[in-house]
Amino acid sequence: MILLLLLGCAADKVGESADSARDTAEGASPDETGETGETGAERVAPIFANPPEAEDLDEDPAVVHVRLVAAPATHVFELPDEEGGPVEVEGYAYNGTLPGPTIRARLGDTVIVELENELPDPTTVHWHGLEVPFEVDGVPWMMEPVAAGESATYTFTVEQAGTFWYHPHFDSHLQVDAGLYGAFVVEDPAEPAADEELILVLDDWDMAGFGTPTGGEDDHGMDGLAGRWTVGGLVEPRVELRGGTRARVRVIDVSNTGYLWLSWPEPRVIARDQGLLPAPLEEPTVLGPGDRLEAEWLVGESGFTVEDLGWSQHGGATGMASELLSVSVLDPAPAPAPADRAWSGEAPGEDPGRTDLVYVFSGDTGSGEWFINGEQWPDVTIASLALGEEAILEVRNVSPTSHPFHLHGMAFEVLSQDGVPPAVRMIEDTIDIPIYGIMRARILADNPGDWMAHCHILPHAEGGMMTVLRVEEPAGARLR
Ligand code: C2O
Ligand code: CU
Repeated sequence: MILLLLLGCAADKVGESADSARDTAEGASPDETGETGETGAERVAPIFANPPEAEDLDEDPAVVHVRLVAAPATHVFELPDEEGGPVEVEGYAYNGTLPGPTIRARLGDTVIVELENELPDPTTVHWHGLEVPFEVDGVPWMMEPVAAGESATYTFTVEQAGTFWYHPHFDSHLQVDAGLYGAFVVEDPAEPAADEELILVLDDWDMAGFGTPTGGEDDHGMDGLAGRWTVGGLVEPRVELRGGTRARVRVIDVSNTGYLWLSWPEPRVIARDQGLLPAPLEEPTVLGPGDRLEAEWLVGESGFTVEDLGWSQHGGATGMASELLSVSVLDPAPAPAPADRAWSGEAPGEDPGRTDLVYVFSGDTGSGEWFINGEQWPDVTIASLALGEEAILEVRNVSPTSHPFHLHGMAFEVLSQDGVPPAVRMIEDTIDIPIYGIMRARILADNPGDWMAHCHILPHAEGGMMTVLRVEEPAGARLR
């Protein structure tokens, strides 16, 4: 069965959660059954989000309370009609939903997340792309993970607008793959509101990398699902949008290893990792593990499909396109003009030419051994920056596989990719380094801590492709 998600019922769900969105995450109460994706309402929730409520906009910074319960869960996936019955996958979930609840805050809000660990193993939560204090970054480096049966509280203030996500940073290659992930949206009230907002959390269910965290040895029940992508926990969902409206679409690749080459008619990417771009980008985009983008859909007379044109870490375009999602139009009407965002068109910063820090990514799939500067986590040399220092980083990929480079704690400005500056100023926390590619970036070391720098193909990180960039207080320490 292809799922038909009616905007009408999305609106009900949205209405229900909008009032409480300031106190809790959407759908933050754990599902008693421990089964994900069961009812229509739950199926709608992961994709449609509530756009900002006008009356909330003048509220002073608020406190957003979220309760996350990490526990084993059975993920139930309906397949298209001709493919037979649902597929059940034993995994993990936050609050019994796949993805976990969307956490939504506004610039300046304080977020308090209580994590309860009902997993059989330790876990943590990391706030991917958010510049939080090191103590709440959710990495077990220098800090104990949250033991099975224990809880922890993460408190921080959000000062970046954009589309982020959260996931464990302990045995990530197993725990994220098992279903522990969710969207984290930070709104800037100054931005024009969209008529509709969709959050597309994209995951693939390739056999590679997936292990039942509880140690089972079967094929995890993934017949019919292996190699496919799910959108908000759904296989090839269909959504209905009203003609004549604008939708803001937040896309997150939470897959352990999967790349997407996203395409839909008249692509219009308005934001990437760290919020709005200085100008929209109008071409199909490759999205690697951990990466995000935001698109604007101008819905008019006719429906369309969102496709993955097929992209592989082992060499780019695969030529194997597949459908991710289809959109049908309710009440066709002429497409509206794009929202007025006063695009600055700001150009990328100039590369000063010096290099302060180099990360060379190497390794190969055959051995499963992966290195940064010839070292494997945790036996790594810690590079240090003084607080307030500006450093030029060069990441070189000398392996026959792409690597999405991710830095915790501080976003960076991309200066060039293979010698070519980006079309507009680009602030990222995750960026793909293609095979034999070179990326240069500027980092402002403004957040003290020991920040993980790693490949977001999680089996690569597990295989050693992870290091630490230390930002030291007081100032005075120099780069190695
Ligand atoms: Cu998305 Cu180090 O993580
Ligand atoms: Cu990698």
